[in-house]
Amino acid sequence: MVVDVIMGGRTEMVIEAGLPDQILPNREGRARVAVLTQPGATNHATNVARSIRAEGYEVEIIGLPDRDEAKSLDVAASVYETLARFGLGRQDTIVGVGGGSVTDLSGFVAGTWLRGVEVVHVPTTLLAAVDASIGGKTGVNLAGKNLVGVFWHPTRVVVDTTILDDLPGSLLREGLAEALKVGLIGDTDLVELLEAHGAEAPIGEVVRRATAVKSRIVDDDEREQGKRAFLNFGHTIGHAVEFASTLSHGESVGLGMVAAARISQEKDGFSEAERVTAAISDLGIPVEVSGLDRARVKDLLRHDKKRDAKGLRMVLLESIGSPVLRHVDSDEIDIGLAAIKL
Ligand SMILES: NC(=O)c1ccc[n+]([C@@H]2O[C@H](COP(=O)([O-])OP(=O)(O)OC[C@H]3O[C@@H](n4cnc5c(N)ncnc54)[C@H](O)[C@@H]3O)[C@@H](O)[C@H]2O)c1
Ligand SMILES: [Zn+2]
Repeated sequence: MVVDVIMGGRTEMVIEAGLPDQILPNREGRARVAVLTQPGATNHATNVARSIRAEGYEVEIIGLPDRDEAKSLDVAASVYETLARFGLGRQDTIVGVGGGSVTDLSGFVAGTWLRGVEVVHVPTTLLAAVDASIGGKTGVNLAGKNLVGVFWHPTRVVVDTTILDDLPGSLLREGLAEALKVGLIGDTDLVELLEAHGAEAPIGEVVRRATAVKSRIVDDDEREQGKRAFLNFGHTIGHAVEFASTLSHGESVGLGMVAAARISQEKDGFSEAERVTAAISDLGIPVEVSGLDRARVKDLLRHDKKRDAKGLRMVLLESIGSPVLRHVDSDEIDIGLAAIKL
């Protein structure tokens, strides 16, 4: 078994082609394991469950609704009911097999059931592998996204790269956009790897590098008092574009990164905005929008929760690998929006 990253002694990353012989870390007294999954990951969950059963545990598979439909208090409540019937106890384990919506809900349920039981993630999307499954943020949506949650770290994350090799293009691009984001704020080698190979980049290496950067940042600043905010690079304008359009999260973040790179050039003399734009484009992600309502995007930005008394705060780049947090004014935002033809 390859153990690549130990995050603050809390999360062990296992990144291999294929599932490891032993999916769960050793744990005294464990008898039962609940495997939570979603429609697009059921086959993988069946394989995970079979392997865990073969280790001698009693396993219950719990199917969740697809995508963000899984991230609700109602779904959490119905999972708690099932856990009660199944008798999942303090020494037992919850395993989330799926995309970020499964890892977010599984982490939330694990962090609250009996005031906290072990959770292990087996991400089946690239976004979940490089982003959602590590860092300990869990949550459900209410009127807004992720309004209710706890910090709860998985003891282990198992990434089977053969699953990620088979992802449909749209899910692949979502994850690559987040991997490039992580590279731009913390790993120039990862940026170069993605530039050299585009959407054909070797997934194992991308996951290894991206999770190492995110782990390092989260270890320093779990509660987002400082550096963790750098992980929001591309997400301020990205979220506004996502809300105002039918574009996916990854596509919107790609556009947000193009805009943020251009604003960085304006404010911090960042000299590689064109390079960033080319890298995003080479991943198959659009770098310009059409048919979007500019006033609506600006209005969404006016209500961004990262706004304080001095205005909107955004992550910008001084150079590739060196992010900074800066207040930006309306004219600077206009320059960023113009860069994506908005
Ligand atoms: N906690 C965090 O730090 C964090 C970070 C980023 C995103 N998130 C959350 O992650 C969620 C998005 O995650 P996501 O993009 O992974 O999507 P998702 O969980 O919504 O899944 C997307 C789709 O992919 C399908 N799917 C899953 N595995 C598949 C596979 N191997 N092949 C084909 N289809 C598959 C699913 O059934 C679903 O239809 C959001 O809720 C977001 O808030 C959390
Ligand atoms: Zn994101």
